[in-house]
Amino acid sequence: MTLNSPQGKQNTPLLDVQDLEVAFFTKDGVVAAVNGISYRLGHGDILGIVGESGSGKSVSSLALLRLIPEPPARILGGRALFADGTGAPRDLLKMAPEELRGVRGRQIAVIFQDPMTSLNPVMTIGNQIAEAIRVNLGQGGRAARKRAIEVLSHVGIPRAAERLDDYPHQFSGGMRQRVMIAMAISCEPKLLIADEPTTALDVTIQAQIVDLVKRLQAEMGMAVIWITHDLGVIARLAHRVNVMYAGSIVEMAPIREIFRAPSHPYTLGLLNSVPRPDLPRDAELAYIEGAPPDMVRLPSGCAFHPRCAYRRERCLSEKPPLLPIDAEHSAACWYWEEVRAASARATPPQGPAT
Ligand SMILES: Nc1ncnc2c1ncn2[C@@H]1O[C@H](COP(=O)(O)OP(=O)(O)O)[C@@H](O)[C@H]1O
Ligand SMILES: [Mg+2]
Repeated sequence: MTLNSPQGKQNTPLLDVQDLEVAFFTKDGVVAAVNGISYRLGHGDILGIVGESGSGKSVSSLALLRLIPEPPARILGGRALFADGTGAPRDLLKMAPEELRGVRGRQIAVIFQDPMTSLNPVMTIGNQIAEAIRVNLGQGGRAARKRAIEVLSHVGIPRAAERLDDYPHQFSGGMRQRVMIAMAISCEPKLLIADEPTTALDVTIQAQIVDLVKRLQAEMGMAVIWITHDLGVIARLAHRVNVMYAGSIVEMAPIREIFRAPSHPYTLGLLNSVPRPDLPRDAELAYIEGAPPDMVRLPSGCAFHPRCAYRRERCLSEKPPLLPIDAEHSAACWYWEEVRAASARATPPQGPAT
């Protein structure tokens, strides 16, 4: 299947995740963080991963690079085939530490929500970028500094050469995130994993960062996994979306389909909580009722059933797998047809610009 690649030419996806399962073994019990998820990411694709806090977005993505604390975390199963184009796909989860180090940063780069925790406060921005370039590309001295200026200008930092000797605290939050992006793209990765990189920023700056990543993605052709709890952000950026709930993917579709014909009750709830520019400002946002599940004791059957307006007897005992709706769209709901029919009657919130 090459469906999720906009180019549609490559037969082998860049990333093919199969049945990934991750748990945390804690003194309070086993946290079922990621419960057997599978998806594919094409070369140059932008995949949005959306879901409430605690749904497994970060753990499922960071586990691919073993950037999770093991222990208490343990990868219980699955494969993550990465095809960088230089040979047969390799399973990231089976790589020896030094092989994985060659992938991390170089081929797959990660940016996080809070740049201050990733940047060293007592090292200049220039030295930090140069260090990343030295480690990942083996370039040092003048060449690394020159490349640092290049990437900083590229991500829209004004007077980049002058700012190399500044420290992180001398940059605003948005500018720090640009610095993180500069470091991430300095070695032209095939995949950028962005874990809620704009969540801490105000809306205007958030939009600028999203636009920046979109531009870089188009110029460099890298694929992006963008993690967020905000479908509004995804609408500006992603080609495809995985909706996660309680460590499982509950709906998977091209972004337009998610807005046009949401087919899982949880997705419907998320859409209803996206601010609506087309409605009066004081119209209340409809949040999803109920609390996210206890990940140590997940509800029986469909984990969403305690919060679901569509539940029937079957949902309490049988966990629905992702059921195919069409070639590109699937939903893990026994009653997706009903949900879809209901969503067709409602006015959808503003989706991606056409
Ligand atoms: N260090 C940890 N110890 C125990 N449980 C954890 C740890 N990190 C994450 N978890 C649990 O794993 C689940 C998934 O977490 P995460 O992927 O971070 O969620 P998200 O990114 O969607 O907010 C959550 O239930 C969370 O409580
Ligand atoms: Mg997270």
